[in-house]
This record gives sequence, C-alpha cells and structure tokens, in this order.
Amino acid sequence: MPSDRLQVEKSAIQNHLPDFAEHVENGLSASPKKLSPMYLYDEQGSLLFEQICELPEYYLTRTEHAILQNYSDEVAAFSNGNMALVELGSGSSTKTRLIIEALIAHQSDLHYIPVDISETILVNSAKELLQDYPDLKISAHAAEYHAAIRTISKLELEQKMIIFLGSNIGNFEPDAAKNFLCKVRTWLSDGDFFLLSTDLEKERSVLEPAYDDAQGVTAAFNMNLLKRMNEELDANFDLSTFSHYAFYNEKLGRVESHLRSHIEQSVYFGRLNRTFHFKKAETIHTENSYKFTNSKIKELCEATGFRLVKQWQDERTYFSVNLLATA
Ligand code: AVI
Repeated sequence: MPSDRLQVEKSAIQNHLPDFAEHVENGLSASPKKLSPMYLYDEQGSLLFEQICELPEYYLTRTEHAILQNYSDEVAAFSNGNMALVELGSGSSTKTRLIIEALIAHQSDLHYIPVDISETILVNSAKELLQDYPDLKISAHAAEYHAAIRTISKLELEQKMIIFLGSNIGNFEPDAAKNFLCKVRTWLSDGDFFLLSTDLEKERSVLEPAYDDAQGVTAAFNMNLLKRMNEELDANFDLSTFSHYAFYNEKLGRVESHLRSHIEQSVYFGRLNRTFHFKKAETIHTENSYKFTNSKIKELCEATGFRLVKQWQDERTYFSVNLLATA
C-alpha cells in the first residue's frame, strides 16, 4: 500500500449512533411507531443497499452517475488549481471517481478527504483509488459527519469542495437538512463549494416501484430491520406477519417506507423485557426519501446562507446535482 499517500484518522466518537436498544424502545413507544433509517445499514443492510443501486427500478444511482459522467469537467472547472475534495458519506467512492478524474485532469494532482462511518469500506476503497490514481493523496476520516467536519476544519486547505452525493440529503427531515447545511456552510470560506445531489419530484408511477421493486430487494432491505431486532434485542418478530410498504406522499414530497403488521399481535423484546402491541395494519415508519423541486432547492439554499451557483440535471429531469457557494 502506498502508505505515504494514505492517512487514516478515526474520530474518538466514531460510533456516535444512539444506542440501538434505547432508540427502538423510544421509537416503538411513539405513536405512530417509527425507527430511524440509519439503523437499516448493518452489514446485511449495506449489502442489500448496494443491490438496490443496481435495480432497474432504482433510477437514482444510474441517473446521478450519468450526470457526473456528462458534467464532471464543468464541476472541476470551478477549481482554482489546488482544490481539495471532501466527501461526506463516501462509501465505496464509485461515482466520486468521475469527479476525481476530472479534478486530476484539471489540476494534475488531488487531495481527497473521504469521510465515512465504516473504516473498512473507507480503507478498502482508498487503497483501490490510490492504485488507480498515482497523483492522488488521501486523508480518510472514519467518523460521523459532524465529528469529521470538526477535525477536517483544522486542516489548512487552500480551496475545497465538499460533496454529498447519492441523494442522501433526501433521508434527512426538513429541519435536519437545514441544520446540516448550516453546519457545512460555517465551514466554507469564500471560493469553496458544496456539491449536493437531490432526487427530484416525479410521477408516482416511477417513484413507487423505485422503493418497492419487483425482485423484492428493497423489501428485504427494510425487513432486515426486524431481523436485526430479533438478533440484537432478542425480539420475537414473526417476519411472515409483516411486509414492506412504500408509497409516495405527494403532499409532503416524500416516499415513505414502512413495515406493516398483517395481524393484531404482540412482540416481546427479551433485552428490553418489554412487549409492544401492533394493531392489524399498524406500521413502523422506517424511512422518508424526500424529493425536491427547483424551488425547494432554492428555498433550502436561501434558508441556510447558500446560493445556487449551477445545477446539472439529466434529460428526463429525474435528478439534479447542485453546486452551492456561500451567499
Ligand atoms: C440512501 N438513500 C438516499 C436511499 C433513498 O433513496 O432514500 C435509501 C433507500 N431506501 C430504499 N431504497 C433506497
């Protein structure tokens, strides 16, 4: 491994996720019942999410990739010749390769700073990137975003572009999205940029199959949360009595994912020493995937001290990649 080109930093509060048991106890005591989507991503959930990205119905990943393929050169043109690239939630950095290549072509070398909660994924993808791009230097941060931002903000970077891809902002509730953008905003200086991708509002006939595919991969992804509660919290969910349920809530501009009980039943959690009751057709709300319009994107920018410098979309206007700078 070219160790002189790779640094790995671990934040002390890397696993800052609230305790799963406590989260489940609160979420299932609430009315309506709910759980945070962040718990969908255990090892099995992360593998299933990778499969979701390949599904014919899940247009998001493919469309974002196509936009970056077409316009990464235009993104790189905003570099002053020495721009660092910071990626929040980098995962396997697949789409980022397009931006990395465009920036290396533009400025001949690049300091890439990926941030991800999973150290294994970070290190593996960093090694692959370093092998493929000799002009790349990587400072990987295994941390939750806020902790990483605190650490990275101490680095002296002449110019930086922070990127947040994959429509990940869509899984934030509106207030949380605003808070997150405000945080990122405080870390940007004049001449820095924030590249934010957002999925766009569209017909129900496209949105609903994207979150309830014919092969049942998205259903397995959501149902995995019940398995996780059985395994980690000693719960006795009978998976055959629940199903994945996703629909487009047009009024709120979001696809909602739920786990729905077919029958009236009680579920016992050994680790919590507690029983939760489900009415017939009652659901656990597990995820919201917000869809944006151009006016919602502008509103979000205005509310958080950003201006929209440039926007790239695909031909069908399914998805957008937005370049923001401080207002
Ligand atoms: C990660 N995130 C943007 C995905 C989405 O589209 O909301 C998660 C997902 N849930 C079901 N399918 C994909």
